[in-house]
Amino acid sequence: MQTILTGIRCNDELTIGNYVGAILPLIEMSKKYSKEYSLALFVPDLHSFTTPVDHKLLYTNSMSNLRLFVAAGLPIGENNIEVYRQSRISAHSELCVILNNFSSYGVLTRMTEFKDKAERKDIDFVSAGLFDYPVLMAADIVLYGAKYVPVGDDQRQHLEFARDLAQRFNNKFGEIFTVPADIREQAKFASQDESIRIMSLTNPEKKMSKSVKDLNGTILLKDDPKVAAKKIMGATTDSVGVINFDKKNQPGITNLLVLLALLEGKSQEEINKEFVGQTSYGELKKRVAGAVEQILSKLQQAYEQVDVDELEKKLLHSEEKMRGIANETLLKVQKAVGLRE
Ligand code: TYM
Repeated sequence: MQTILTGIRCNDELTIGNYVGAILPLIEMSKKYSKEYSLALFVPDLHSFTTPVDHKLLYTNSMSNLRLFVAAGLPIGENNIEVYRQSRISAHSELCVILNNFSSYGVLTRMTEFKDKAERKDIDFVSAGLFDYPVLMAADIVLYGAKYVPVGDDQRQHLEFARDLAQRFNNKFGEIFTVPADIREQAKFASQDESIRIMSLTNPEKKMSKSVKDLNGTILLKDDPKVAAKKIMGATTDSVGVINFDKKNQPGITNLLVLLALLEGKSQEEINKEFVGQTSYGELKKRVAGAVEQILSKLQQAYEQVDVDELEKKLLHSEEKMRGIANETLLKVQKAVGLRE
């Protein structure tokens, strides 16, 4: 069975970008492919403090995110669907230490996310953890032989890095790792034309993100649904006066068209057919606001109803199972590099 796997950090609250970029695609795959693939959604908690966080809240946040995955529809009752916490499986850290020696310092310094975060004025301490982040992410992926890794557009470069690293390692030591599918194949598998990037509502040139000061541009999954709808109504658009699907010249409007298609589960073509050429930005906003309000209300209600005991049992079970798989891969690597007989 091939593996589909993705991770979502727990250092802050989740956004609608996380939801449509990673959670929803994985859940859709779990419905579509649960007989043919094994699926894993994990919390990369060791990745959480590569930028400063409130450590007192970290544990609660990871449990709360896991609960949200279930509320969003992840069918944890199924046998080949796993949920786990990265830090509970020590092979992630061990493999990362080994892979560091096969990762290029130069390439890591050129990673966009590293450069962006390292340059941010509100981050005054740039850690080695932030620099090494893609290597740990590569370890997360190759430990389980994941072929498909549904991630948003911002993680594409890290996925390419993992592919290169797996290939380089295999060239040197033989077929140890499964090389993840390339970006085009990933998008095709997820039935997407291209990978998803939801932009900030107030600054549509920038990715919607949880780690920003002005949260008017970001919809958090825990936002009051009415407040979230207001954020959509207040989204920055443009003065063209006609709706076009044009990321370059009308990024705000295009962002709303993208979001609407994903939230309503329709193709971009279908949504564009309905709206492109229309002149009322208000109508489009109202429709997106309605979809956001409905999805958040449903999600928040479901969140309250999640059986936390069942979730905790599932976590322990998955962690045990995944530890076994991860340790097998780690042993192969240890043998290949000469650490074991
Ligand atoms: P993280 O926690 O920043 O984001 C989790 C997922 O949400 C996607 N995402 C978005 N998609 C569309 N539009 C947005 N505005 C948006 N914001 C976030 C991200 O692309 C991601 O898919 N390094 C990863 C976590 C990770 C991981 C892994 C993922 C660690 N190990 C192994 C896959 C496999 C990260 O920081 O994602």
